[in-house]
Amino acid sequence: MDDLMPDQDLNRDQIIRLLSADGVHEKEQIFSRACEIKKVHTGEKIVVRGLIELSNICRKNCLYCGVRKENHSVHRYEIPDAEVLEVVKKAMEEGYTSLVIQSGERTDQVFIHRIERLLRKIQVMTGHGMRITLSCGEQSPETYRRWADSGAHRYLLRIETTNRDLFRSIHPRDGSHLYDSRIRALQDLKEAGYLVGTGVMIGLPGQTIEDLANDLLFIKDFSIDMVGMGPYIEHEKTPLFAERDRLWPAEKRLEKSLLMIAVLRLLMKNINIASSTALDVLSPKGRAMAFHAGANVLMPNITPVRYREDYLIYQGKPVLLEATELITRISSELPDGSRIDLADWGDSRRSSMPAFC
Ligand code: 5AD
Ligand code: SF4
Repeated sequence: MDDLMPDQDLNRDQIIRLLSADGVHEKEQIFSRACEIKKVHTGEKIVVRGLIELSNICRKNCLYCGVRKENHSVHRYEIPDAEVLEVVKKAMEEGYTSLVIQSGERTDQVFIHRIERLLRKIQVMTGHGMRITLSCGEQSPETYRRWADSGAHRYLLRIETTNRDLFRSIHPRDGSHLYDSRIRALQDLKEAGYLVGTGVMIGLPGQTIEDLANDLLFIKDFSIDMVGMGPYIEHEKTPLFAERDRLWPAEKRLEKSLLMIAVLRLLMKNINIASSTALDVLSPKGRAMAFHAGANVLMPNITPVRYREDYLIYQGKPVLLEATELITRISSELPDGSRIDLADWGDSRRSSMPAFC
């Protein structure tokens, strides 16, 4: 395909054409080109970030999410600091050097202070040897600064979709789920000095290939450092479940998710692109396939198993799979030459943060 020529800046039409690829051979060409580019620009290493799902308490009500505030069938939990520190200690002993702390969104002072204290404790315990990514939703610029000062390096906040109408259709219209606030938050994060990650869901009801192309262009223009995007998976205890008849079939959602990863790699050669857990819901090899399509980050869930059932943002999320088992399995399914590297902090070659932070 002409669109796959090296070092060519893809325009919107070309992106749409690549995302529309249908033939097996055509898709294989795109994936292998993305994989080549990944090798040249990020190396052979797959970097790892251990994911801790700190709490499922959330003030928001996103229409697609299983842990939304109004899903009263969810048992709410918060993992106490001491238990988090045990998880971090074990992760450190196993060689992890990078963690993601994810939680439902809370903006109360108790939560803000809690995260601040927890970050400091982790930094002290690990001798500042752990890179920490936060994923705790939209916060004020001051909160972002405080958490950065306490030891968070990166922040993940998905835009979910850059189609404003679609964004409105998947969120309640209550004034606290606004597209502009999400954009503002992403800008605030940059200003607070984080390496910023974002992402979208793929295969939302009513979403088009044109929307997905615009998402990729947004990510490129926003000069993002890392991206986590994956398929939308329906959850029966959410309002968006009513729209399930309008969804692309699972196979198409998987295929378009892999194409999104590949085309993003063609557009942004040296960023970090995660292989999202949701891919495994659509195919047992979903996450492994992402590494053949240009992804370079694996995020094993290291949350204690007894909490995992309560963090079901979508149905079918693997809750029993142990991180070591996942790493062993994925290692045997990687492209030739690739290897998982726990010791690498995984700062993308794009980032310019000094190594000591
Ligand atoms: N399917 C796929 N991803 C989802 N998320 C939330 N609900 C779903 C779902 N039903 C993703 C959103 C959110 C992240 C925490 O999880 O992109 O930002
Ligand atoms: Fe809360 Fe995030 Fe789920 Fe929205 S997607 S309800 S902010 S956990």
